[in-house]
Amino acid sequence: MSSPEQAKGFATRAIHAGHGERDPYGALTSPIYMTSTFEFDTAEQGAARFAGEEEGYIYSRLGNPTLTELEYKLADLEGAEACLAVASGMGAITSVFWTFVAPGDEILVDKTLYGCTFAYFHHGLEKFGITVRYVDMCQVKNLAREISDKTKIVYFETPANPNMRIVDIKAICEIAHSSGARVVVDNTYCTPYLQNPIALGADIVVHSATKYLGGHGDLMAGVILSNAEDMEQIRYVGLKDMTGAVLSPMNAFLVTRGLKTLELRMERHCDNAEKIAQMLMDSRKVGQIFFPGLPSFEQHELAKSQMNRFGGMVAFELHGGHEAGLKFLNSLTLCKIAVSLGDAETLVEHPASMTHSTYTPEERELHGIGEGLVRISVGLENAADILLDIEQALAQV
Ligand SMILES: Cc1ncc(COP(=O)(O)O)c(C=O)c1O
Repeated sequence: MSSPEQAKGFATRAIHAGHGERDPYGALTSPIYMTSTFEFDTAEQGAARFAGEEEGYIYSRLGNPTLTELEYKLADLEGAEACLAVASGMGAITSVFWTFVAPGDEILVDKTLYGCTFAYFHHGLEKFGITVRYVDMCQVKNLAREISDKTKIVYFETPANPNMRIVDIKAICEIAHSSGARVVVDNTYCTPYLQNPIALGADIVVHSATKYLGGHGDLMAGVILSNAEDMEQIRYVGLKDMTGAVLSPMNAFLVTRGLKTLELRMERHCDNAEKIAQMLMDSRKVGQIFFPGLPSFEQHELAKSQMNRFGGMVAFELHGGHEAGLKFLNSLTLCKIAVSLGDAETLVEHPASMTHSTYTPEERELHGIGEGLVRISVGLENAADILLDIEQALAQV
């Protein structure tokens, strides 16, 4: 493997980092190791690998060369010591928590989260005697007030799905660390191209690689990044024995391929999203617009201080509420009505009835997810075509 290439540019590292030895046949692209197990030369060698006395692959739930290439590349891009690629974003999140929490522990999580993450905490972890407390982490002082020596993990997304709330990564890490808690950040919306939580103090970063990292809507994957010690525990306790959320080599290959164009794609997503947010400002059908790149966005300055650009996600509240949201979606002709995000296609969804239907209406209100909220994952099409479609759909609301 080539050594970490931090000094080189992002796109260069996204293309070259992690690429192994020259292939015996000269193949430029690494082969895909579609194998579940690995043959040992001798019984002693097998025993030595299990005992950790000899390097080498054993079984694909523990590691596979196609995944190693992806993990090495992502660790380089995110500035982490180590990375683990898993089967989905939820596989990443659950592998982290099952590794580090036990009954009696407490975790503090932000009040706005992706719907299934919220469901995992609320309906999953709480069932196992783990106290989950929801804190508005946009106000750093709230964390300072709520944290205690029982707090094992502080968890948030920034920008948060779906309403783009920004959390001050550095300030939250300082408070959490002074209490001995680990900070876990979901960096799915930004990718390492736009934001590096580890450089700002975070202990662990998770991604749904299903989204921008893969980038083409053709796979499910997740990744976890941290220091070598934590990653070893997450691999050999969380993944191996508790979640088994193993990524297939085929999908690892597709994420590696997607990463080669991440910089180009993110620049285009950001350009298009800025144009759409600007256009929404002129619509009288639209109330609040949630896009950190707008100077009118409440946390614009904070976003500017920790993100390189503002990303490809835009959300807005329609004055007509729930019904207006559905009408808007049904009026689109180019943009697709679909959940997920980070694909080439522009995807539009209604969080209250789709991704965030895991919250009750009361919880949605409490957690700031409006009934008329529409979320757009701005795609890579020509901006003028996306704008036209959104304008005509707004006209029908
Ligand atoms: C912010 C965020 N985190 C995690 C996930 C879960 O990822 P996956 O669907 O790959 O399990 C999602 C999925 O939409 C997401 O939006």
